Amino acid sequence: MCGIVGYVGKFDCVDFLVQGLRRLEYRGYDSSGIVTVNKSGGMHVAKAAGRIDKLVAKLAQTEMSGKLGVGHTRWATHGPATDVNSHPHVGGDGLLAVVHNGVIENFRPLKQRLEAAGYCFRSATDTEVVAHLIASYWELELAAQPDLTPKSMAAQGYEPLVRAVRASLQKLHGTYGLAVVFRDYPDVIIAAKLGSPLVVGVGDGEHFLASDPSPLVGGTDKIVYLDDHEIAVITADSLRVLHRDLGEKHADVQTLATNTIEVDMAGYEHFMLKEIFEQPDTLRNTMRGRLKPDEATAHFGGLNLTAKELRSVRRIVLTGCGTSWHAGLVGEYLIEELARIPVEVEYASELRYRNPPLDDGTLVFAITQSGETADTLAAMREMKRMGHMTLAISNVVGSSIAKEAHGGIYLHAGPEIGVASTKAFTSQCAALTMLALYLGRMRHLSPVQGAQIIEQLQALPDKVNAALECDAVVRRIAEKYAHCRTFLYLGRQFNFPAALEGALKLKEISYIHAEGYPAAEMKHGPIALVDSETPSVFIVPQGAVFDKVISNMEEIKARGGPVIAITCSEGAKAIGALADDIIEIPTVADFLQPIITAIPTQLLAYYIALERGCDVDKPRNLAKSVTVE
Ligand code: F6R
Repeated sequence: MCGIVGYVGKFDCVDFLVQGLRRLEYRGYDSSGIVTVNKSGGMHVAKAAGRIDKLVAKLAQTEMSGKLGVGHTRWATHGPATDVNSHPHVGGDGLLAVVHNGVIENFRPLKQRLEAAGYCFRSATDTEVVAHLIASYWELELAAQPDLTPKSMAAQGYEPLVRAVRASLQKLHGTYGLAVVFRDYPDVIIAAKLGSPLVVGVGDGEHFLASDPSPLVGGTDKIVYLDDHEIAVITADSLRVLHRDLGEKHADVQTLATNTIEVDMAGYEHFMLKEIFEQPDTLRNTMRGRLKPDEATAHFGGLNLTAKELRSVRRIVLTGCGTSWHAGLVGEYLIEELARIPVEVEYASELRYRNPPLDDGTLVFAITQSGETADTLAAMREMKRMGHMTLAISNVVGSSIAKEAHGGIYLHAGPEIGVASTKAFTSQCAALTMLALYLGRMRHLSPVQGAQIIEQLQALPDKVNAALECDAVVRRIAEKYAHCRTFLYLGRQFNFPAALEGALKLKEISYIHAEGYPAAEMKHGPIALVDSETPSVFIVPQGAVFDKVISNMEEIKARGGPVIAITCSEGAKAIGALADDIIEIPTVADFLQPIITAIPTQLLAYYIALERGCDVDKPRNLAKSVTVE
């Protein structure tokens, strides 16, 4: 979703801001803008709806410069994607400018009050309210001290500006990651966070600001993660962090691990393709150091629960959104089968408003790639409030969900830039498999069974590598069916969530309507959709329900529907001419099949989207990190 980047230091910041915005593109956006403040010429704003190139074209017409500036990519919530609604928003007739991520829930009453006080609104956004609100408090400060120069302001530690920002924040309901710059003070950025991530990069005579670490690549690896309710006062040479209500805090400077900032495409045409092909390595990274063959179990460093506590778990709730929810469904099959603990999988957006009767032995896992998804965070908080242990399975280190959970499992899959989640999904499934093994070995799984599961997990990255060899076949199939307007994805047992995930991938990036179903359920309605232009993708590797799925395939064929089968070599022989197209994948145990079958479904979505000329890494209307409700 929206992204923020900022700089104050010794160099001109315009190029850095534009490059930083490009690094944030993956989060999803529909407009962008920057503001600079300089000692000689005051404050300048440029903004444009559409891709960042539109902003760059506008910048080429101006002479914007400055050693302090902030930029923003907007994902529309209040008001359409237009130049006017883009950030930065100017407050108080040009006194200051604000960029903002998040949603201000009480913006209407605030707007009415500010309009009545004479502030003139130009946009339909909630952010403009923040800009005028801060301006209104800032004007009160100015009235008390009209002669504040940049020098005297610095001598006061920017306290008058902080007071104006703090007073405004206390009036806001909702979420924000925001940055404020002031026309008359070209050496300070004030940033604040509540429910929307912000980091400050610490350089030598310069500081950076961003909504995630990616824009800091090449600038610094020293980083401060702001916490909720914190305000940062940032100049070239100083960083002051304070709690909105409680005063000064220590700025905890951490060193960013290099793998979290590797964000180039490594020669691939798209991030999504790179991330699909990275999966043998990302799975190795997820499993590294966690498999314990000598004890025939898995081991996690950060669960923060004792063996006794884990043994007393009687029910597990897995929650998340989108692809992470699908991984949760895989987890349900895994944990119930391997650990025999009842599992419920809940959409986080529903769980946060439900009041489920959960007893004391309930353990909640929030599953999330970004660690910032607003619904997942809210569901987790609600579960915590009800007194349940909540753990996170997340990819982004230091993310809000990871920080707020009692403990958890990091995926270590590296940054996922493509908006459609690929490697995070397979790593989530691998983490859940290890978790099921760990919980199972505390219960009824024998050492022999545990050792077999470990062997299968260790072999998994090579199997994924082998699965990736279907690339050329999938590409040809994609060319054949890219014109179709509806697809069905069908699978059973472990491959039912795989079918849902395959359909979601196709929808997201190719804009083709696709539905995932348990294969047998198809008879109860969706079969009405079947015709010669509606392909059915059967995810039917092998196993107990193989023959049943073949019968479902017959039913589709009998109605003239094209059949694409994803299956192992034995399965391919059995299916024969029943399928119009076959994608062969290696054989693995049934509980690992969703990881292997994800590969051809990801590639199929990718090549169909490519064939249709879609913007694979930045699909329309979607955001990488959904930080609004
Ligand atoms: C699908 C996709 C989304 C996310 C969902 C949750 O490809 O990317 O459906 O899975 O928005 O995001 P996280 O996992 O970051 O909580």
